[in-house]
Amino acid sequence: MERSPFPHHGPLEPDQVTGRERLAVDLAQRITDRRLTALLGPRRYGKTSLLKRVAADLEAVGHQPVWIDLYERTSIADVAAAVDRGLAEVVGPVRRMLDEIAGPFSVNLGLLGVQLSRSPKQRPDAVLTLRNLLEVLTTAAQRHSLFVVFDEFSGIANVQGGAAVLRTELQHHFQDIGIVFAGSAPSTMQALFSEQSQPFFAQADLVEIEPLADDAIVHIIEDGFEATGRGTGGITSRIAQFAQGHPQRAMQLADALWRHVDEGATASPPAWEAALADVRRHVDAGSDRIFSLLPPGQQKVLRAVAAEGTVYGTTASLLDLPAGTARDAADKLVGNGILHRRPQQLALVDPLLADWLRRRFAI
Ligand SMILES: Nc1ncnc2c1ncn2[C@@H]1O[C@H](COP(=O)(O)OP(=O)(O)OP(=O)(O)O)[C@@H](O)[C@H]1O
Ligand SMILES: [Mg+2]
Repeated sequence: MERSPFPHHGPLEPDQVTGRERLAVDLAQRITDRRLTALLGPRRYGKTSLLKRVAADLEAVGHQPVWIDLYERTSIADVAAAVDRGLAEVVGPVRRMLDEIAGPFSVNLGLLGVQLSRSPKQRPDAVLTLRNLLEVLTTAAQRHSLFVVFDEFSGIANVQGGAAVLRTELQHHFQDIGIVFAGSAPSTMQALFSEQSQPFFAQADLVEIEPLADDAIVHIIEDGFEATGRGTGGITSRIAQFAQGHPQRAMQLADALWRHVDEGATASPPAWEAALADVRRHVDAGSDRIFSLLPPGQQKVLRAVAAEGTVYGTTASLLDLPAGTARDAADKLVGNGILHRRPQQLALVDPLLADWLRRRFAI
């Protein structure tokens, strides 16, 4: 079967990332300038894809990336395993240098998982191991241009003492090593990067990944259809309007439309309706689940924002939503990444959750 030009599960390949040129250049410059940076943004906005692209661009000109994924890490041993994996993924001459540096620390890169699965008595000490691995990293950075991406950095907040070990090991070296943190849990990321208790992290510049511009979305869809012998029939602007800059949702909708258009044919309004119905069928149960787990104040805020973009309009008063409750609930929803503040109004991050709310509730 023909492969869809609109992948929407997980990160893209570096050469598939488009529409983010300015931010890609900015991030690459920050890394080479050794400016500590945290890339923030909603889930599925393309943070990992963009940083993989930046990493590939920099690697092509001789800077070695080390990719450390802290997704849902729960213990120091777990963080050490993530760092070990990141170092072990490096190949070529830099890998040989890393192995050489690791030798005196009795660290065998890539084998930590095996060592950690031993009985507690034979297992290496987790904190010491993490320190050693980070020292391998910082020592290597003195000999070769190297940078590290901590993806899903908010995961460190669940690890007791994890942020402190990273800070101690990295704070005196960030002139030598490029460091980017990325994460999507807004309240956790804000807390990690702004608290007085985290002086090292507080030095990081916070950079937002913005919604994908409508014309970038339109271009991506036009290109994908054209490359596979299909026409969009002007439906692209409808997708862009529906997606509200959400990259993954835009690709998911484009993919659904593409599946309704045969090679050599052109998309039509009925095809778009059918595609939208497919996507709704796919995500409605998930929207229902997210909504039903929220407390009543937050549910009302979501309904009001989906309907009117504000918690102070007629919907809010019809739902008996007092201003104080609305403010607190809206702050929580921004903190957990369900809402974001746009210049003029509040908006749902996920256009398909907004769409479900508008269909599910008459007001
Ligand atoms: N520049 C882009 N152009 C087109 N689509 C994109 C772009 N960036 C991301 N996407 C879409 O978004 C999806 C998710 O991207 P990615 O995994 O990089 O996001 P993320 O912000 O790291 O998400 P998560 O919060 O789940 O880690 C991709 O599969 C793709 O469909
Ligand atoms: Mg990601």
